[in-house]
Amino acid sequence: MTTRQKFIAGNWKMNGSLQANAALLTAITQGLREQPPACKVAVAVPMPYLAQVQALLAGSSVQLGAQDVSQHEAGAYTGETSAAMLADLGVRYGLVGHSERRQYHGETDAVVATKAQRLLAAGITPIVCVGETLAEREAGQTGTVVARQLAAVAEALGQQIEKIVLAYEPVWAIGTGRTATPEQAQQVHAALRAQLASAAPGGAMVPVLYGGSMNAANAADLLAQSDIDGGLIGGAALKAPDFLKIIGAAQA
Ligand code: PGA
Repeated sequence: MTTRQKFIAGNWKMNGSLQANAALLTAITQGLREQPPACKVAVAVPMPYLAQVQALLAGSSVQLGAQDVSQHEAGAYTGETSAAMLADLGVRYGLVGHSERRQYHGETDAVVATKAQRLLAAGITPIVCVGETLAEREAGQTGTVVARQLAAVAEALGQQIEKIVLAYEPVWAIGTGRTATPEQAQQVHAALRAQLASAAPGGAMVPVLYGGSMNAANAADLLAQSDIDGGLIGGAALKAPDFLKIIGAAQA
Protein backbone atom coordinates (compact mmCIF):
# COMPACT_ATOMS: atom_id res chain seq x y z
CA MET A 1 0.00 0.00 0.00
CA THR A 2 1.34 3.39 -0.91
CA THR A 3 1.74 5.86 1.91
CA ARG A 4 -0.11 9.12 2.18
CA GLN A 5 2.26 12.03 1.65
CA LYS A 6 1.96 14.74 4.29
CA PHE A 7 0.44 18.05 3.23
CA ILE A 8 0.79 21.46 4.87
CA ALA A 9 -1.58 24.18 3.66
CA GLY A 10 -1.60 27.78 4.84
CA ASN A 11 -4.89 29.65 5.12
CA TRP A 12 -4.12 33.35 5.11
CA LYS A 13 -7.77 34.33 5.68
CA MET A 14 -8.36 38.07 5.12
CA ASN A 15 -4.76 39.09 5.71
CA GLY A 16 -2.01 40.40 3.49
CA SER A 17 -0.97 43.19 1.16
CA LEU A 18 1.06 43.27 -2.02
CA GLN A 19 4.12 44.13 0.02
CA ALA A 20 3.54 41.69 2.89
CA ASN A 21 2.73 38.80 0.52
CA ALA A 22 5.94 39.33 -1.43
CA ALA A 23 8.03 39.41 1.76
CA LEU A 24 6.33 36.33 3.23
CA LEU A 25 6.56 34.20 0.09
CA THR A 26 10.11 35.25 -0.69
CA ALA A 27 11.12 34.04 2.76
CA ILE A 28 9.11 30.80 2.47
CA THR A 29 10.30 29.85 -1.01
CA GLN A 30 13.89 30.67 -0.08
CA GLY A 31 13.61 28.53 3.04
CA LEU A 32 12.23 25.66 0.99
CA ARG A 33 15.03 25.95 -1.56
CA GLU A 34 17.55 25.62 1.26
CA GLN A 35 15.66 22.77 2.87
CA PRO A 36 13.39 21.07 0.31
CA PRO A 37 10.15 19.88 1.93
CA ALA A 38 9.30 16.20 2.40
CA CYS A 39 5.62 17.14 2.14
CA LYS A 40 3.29 18.93 -0.23
CA VAL A 41 2.83 22.64 0.51
CA ALA A 42 0.13 25.12 -0.52
CA VAL A 43 -1.10 28.56 0.48
CA ALA A 44 -4.74 29.66 0.23
CA VAL A 45 -4.72 33.39 -0.33
CA PRO A 46 -7.31 36.18 -0.70
CA MET A 47 -8.84 36.37 -4.19
CA PRO A 48 -7.33 39.76 -5.18
CA TYR A 49 -3.84 38.39 -4.64
CA LEU A 50 -4.17 35.15 -6.63
CA ALA A 51 -2.38 36.56 -9.68
CA GLN A 52 0.37 38.13 -7.59
CA VAL A 53 0.92 34.92 -5.63
CA GLN A 54 0.80 32.77 -8.77
CA ALA A 55 3.73 34.82 -10.10
CA LEU A 56 5.61 34.73 -6.79
CA LEU A 57 5.28 30.93 -6.56
CA ALA A 58 6.40 30.23 -10.14
CA GLY A 59 9.18 27.66 -10.11
CA SER A 60 8.69 26.86 -6.42
CA SER A 61 7.29 23.73 -4.80
CA VAL A 62 4.43 25.67 -3.20
CA GLN A 63 0.99 25.31 -4.79
CA LEU A 64 -1.60 28.04 -5.12
CA GLY A 65 -4.88 27.81 -3.24
CA ALA A 66 -8.08 29.84 -2.91
CA GLN A 67 -10.20 30.24 0.21
CA ASP A 68 -13.62 29.95 -1.37
CA VAL A 69 -15.45 29.54 -4.68
CA SER A 70 -18.90 30.37 -5.96
CA GLN A 71 -21.49 27.62 -5.90
CA HIS A 72 -22.62 28.91 -9.30
CA GLU A 73 -20.95 28.22 -12.62
CA ALA A 74 -21.02 31.70 -14.23
CA GLY A 75 -23.21 34.70 -14.81
CA ALA A 76 -25.09 37.30 -12.79
CA TYR A 77 -23.60 36.67 -9.34
CA THR A 78 -22.05 39.99 -8.35
CA GLY A 79 -18.97 39.66 -6.20
CA GLU A 80 -18.53 35.94 -6.75
CA THR A 81 -15.53 34.06 -8.16
CA SER A 82 -16.11 30.96 -10.28
CA ALA A 83 -14.13 27.74 -10.23
CA ALA A 84 -13.19 28.33 -13.87
CA MET A 85 -11.67 31.71 -12.94
CA LEU A 86 -9.64 30.07 -10.19
CA ALA A 87 -8.41 27.42 -12.63
CA ASP A 88 -7.51 30.19 -15.08
CA LEU A 89 -5.19 31.66 -12.43
CA GLY A 90 -3.44 28.37 -11.77
CA VAL A 91 -5.25 27.56 -8.52
CA ARG A 92 -4.72 23.92 -7.51
CA TYR A 93 -6.59 23.79 -4.19
CA GLY A 94 -9.71 25.48 -2.90
CA LEU A 95 -11.01 25.60 0.66
CA VAL A 96 -14.71 24.86 1.03
CA GLY A 97 -16.81 24.76 4.16
CA HIS A 98 -14.39 26.59 6.40
CA SER A 99 -16.19 27.19 9.69
CA GLU A 100 -15.89 30.96 9.24
CA ARG A 101 -17.86 30.65 6.00
CA ARG A 102 -20.40 28.33 7.58
CA GLN A 103 -20.76 30.66 10.57
CA TYR A 104 -20.60 34.15 9.05
CA HIS A 105 -21.93 33.48 5.57
CA GLY A 106 -24.60 30.91 6.32
CA GLU A 107 -23.06 28.15 4.22
CA THR A 108 -24.99 24.93 4.61
CA ASP A 109 -23.71 21.39 4.09
CA ALA A 110 -25.50 21.40 0.72
CA VAL A 111 -23.79 24.63 -0.42
CA VAL A 112 -20.42 23.27 0.68
CA ALA A 113 -21.04 20.08 -1.32
CA THR A 114 -21.98 22.06 -4.44
CA LYS A 115 -18.83 24.17 -4.13
CA ALA A 116 -16.71 21.03 -3.88
CA GLN A 117 -18.36 19.76 -7.08
CA ARG A 118 -17.63 23.03 -8.88
CA LEU A 119 -13.97 22.87 -7.95
CA LEU A 120 -13.55 19.27 -9.04
CA ALA A 121 -15.26 20.00 -12.34
CA ALA A 122 -12.65 22.74 -12.91
CA GLY A 123 -9.77 20.40 -12.04
CA ILE A 124 -9.13 21.96 -8.61
CA THR A 125 -8.79 19.84 -5.47
CA PRO A 126 -11.29 20.87 -2.80
CA ILE A 127 -10.02 21.03 0.77
CA VAL A 128 -13.28 20.29 2.56
CA CYS A 129 -13.37 21.57 6.15
CA VAL A 130 -15.46 19.96 8.86
CA GLY A 131 -15.54 20.53 12.59
CA GLU A 132 -17.71 20.82 15.67
CA THR A 133 -18.36 23.86 17.87
CA LEU A 134 -17.50 23.87 21.56
CA ALA A 135 -21.17 23.41 22.47
CA GLU A 136 -21.40 20.40 20.14
CA ARG A 137 -18.26 18.85 21.62
CA GLU A 138 -19.49 19.37 25.15
CA ALA A 139 -22.80 17.78 24.20
CA GLY A 140 -20.92 14.71 22.93
CA GLN A 141 -21.95 15.39 19.33
CA THR A 142 -18.52 15.70 17.70
CA GLY A 143 -18.75 12.41 15.80
CA THR A 144 -22.28 13.01 14.55
CA VAL A 145 -21.57 16.57 13.41
CA VAL A 146 -18.43 15.86 11.40
CA ALA A 147 -19.96 12.68 9.94
CA ARG A 148 -22.98 14.68 8.76
CA GLN A 149 -20.78 17.39 7.23
CA LEU A 150 -18.66 14.82 5.37
CA ALA A 151 -21.67 12.74 4.32
CA ALA A 152 -23.23 15.71 2.51
CA VAL A 153 -20.11 16.07 0.38
CA ALA A 154 -19.74 12.31 -0.12
CA GLU A 155 -23.33 12.06 -1.31
CA ALA A 156 -22.87 14.86 -3.84
CA LEU A 157 -19.52 13.62 -5.15
CA GLY A 158 -20.06 9.86 -5.17
CA GLN A 159 -16.83 8.02 -5.97
CA GLN A 160 -15.12 11.34 -6.63
CA ILE A 161 -14.94 11.82 -2.89
CA GLU A 162 -11.56 10.11 -3.14
CA LYS A 163 -10.23 13.17 -4.99
CA ILE A 164 -10.72 15.61 -2.11
CA VAL A 165 -8.53 16.65 0.79
CA LEU A 166 -10.39 16.69 4.12
CA ALA A 167 -9.56 19.03 6.99
CA TYR A 168 -10.79 18.46 10.52
CA GLU A 169 -10.94 21.82 12.23
CA PRO A 170 -12.64 21.92 15.62
CA VAL A 171 -14.24 25.37 15.69
CA TRP A 172 -13.22 25.93 19.31
CA ALA A 173 -9.56 25.49 18.35
CA ILE A 174 -9.49 27.94 15.44
CA GLY A 175 -7.57 31.12 16.22
CA THR A 176 -7.99 30.51 19.94
CA GLY A 177 -4.60 29.08 20.82
CA ARG A 178 -6.51 26.10 22.17
CA THR A 179 -5.46 23.05 20.15
CA ALA A 180 -7.11 19.66 20.18
CA THR A 181 -4.78 17.21 21.89
CA PRO A 182 -3.12 14.79 19.48
CA GLU A 183 -5.33 12.03 20.93
CA GLN A 184 -8.55 14.06 20.54
CA ALA A 185 -7.67 14.86 16.94
CA GLN A 186 -6.56 11.31 16.12
CA GLN A 187 -9.86 9.90 17.37
CA VAL A 188 -11.88 12.12 15.02
CA HIS A 189 -9.46 11.56 12.14
CA ALA A 190 -9.74 7.79 12.47
CA ALA A 191 -13.54 7.99 12.33
CA LEU A 192 -13.42 10.29 9.29
CA ARG A 193 -11.00 7.94 7.55
CA ALA A 194 -13.31 5.00 8.17
CA GLN A 195 -16.19 6.99 6.70
CA LEU A 196 -14.10 7.89 3.63
CA ALA A 197 -13.00 4.27 3.23
CA SER A 198 -16.57 3.07 3.11
CA ALA A 199 -17.58 5.85 0.67
CA ALA A 200 -15.17 5.00 -2.16
CA PRO A 201 -12.52 2.38 -3.01
CA GLY A 202 -9.71 4.94 -2.67
CA GLY A 203 -11.32 6.76 0.25
CA ALA A 204 -8.82 5.58 2.85
CA MET A 205 -6.06 7.39 0.91
CA VAL A 206 -7.72 10.81 1.15
CA PRO A 207 -5.40 13.14 3.09
CA VAL A 208 -7.03 14.21 6.35
CA LEU A 209 -5.47 17.42 7.70
CA TYR A 210 -5.83 18.86 11.18
CA GLY A 211 -6.47 22.59 11.63
CA GLY A 212 -6.97 24.80 14.68
CA SER A 213 -4.09 26.59 16.38
CA MET A 214 -1.49 24.26 14.87
CA ASN A 215 1.87 25.95 15.34
CA ALA A 216 5.62 25.41 15.27
CA ALA A 217 5.57 24.02 18.82
CA ASN A 218 2.71 21.53 18.59
CA ALA A 219 2.87 20.43 14.93
CA ALA A 220 5.24 17.49 15.37
CA ASP A 221 3.07 15.79 18.01
CA LEU A 222 -0.09 16.23 15.97
CA LEU A 223 1.57 15.07 12.76
CA ALA A 224 2.91 11.96 14.49
CA GLN A 225 -0.62 10.58 14.83
CA SER A 226 -1.31 7.78 12.38
CA ASP A 227 -4.40 9.40 10.80
CA ILE A 228 -3.20 13.02 10.74
CA ASP A 229 -1.81 13.60 7.27
CA GLY A 230 -0.97 17.27 7.56
CA GLY A 231 -2.18 20.63 8.71
CA LEU A 232 -4.33 23.56 7.67
CA ILE A 233 -2.56 26.48 9.25
CA GLY A 234 -4.06 29.91 9.89
CA GLY A 235 -2.15 32.35 12.10
CA ALA A 236 1.17 30.49 11.96
CA ALA A 237 1.11 30.53 8.13
CA LEU A 238 1.60 34.30 8.20
CA LYS A 239 5.04 34.03 9.77
CA ALA A 240 7.66 32.47 7.49
CA PRO A 241 9.84 30.95 10.25
CA ASP A 242 6.81 29.31 11.90
CA PHE A 243 5.35 28.02 8.64
CA LEU A 244 8.75 26.62 7.64
CA LYS A 245 9.09 24.89 11.02
CA ILE A 246 5.69 23.25 10.59
CA ILE A 247 6.66 22.11 7.08
CA GLY A 248 9.90 20.73 8.52
CA ALA A 249 7.88 18.76 11.07
CA ALA A 250 5.90 17.10 8.29
CA GLN A 251 8.04 14.19 7.22
CA ALA A 252 6.69 11.83 4.57
P1 PGA B 1 -5.59 28.91 13.07
O1 PGA B 1 -6.63 28.77 11.85
O2 PGA B 1 -4.39 28.08 12.72
O3 PGA B 1 -5.28 30.37 13.15
O4 PGA B 1 -6.30 28.40 14.29
C1 PGA B 1 -6.80 27.56 11.18
C2 PGA B 1 -7.89 27.70 10.15
O5 PGA B 1 -8.88 28.39 10.40
O6 PGA B 1 -7.77 27.14 9.04
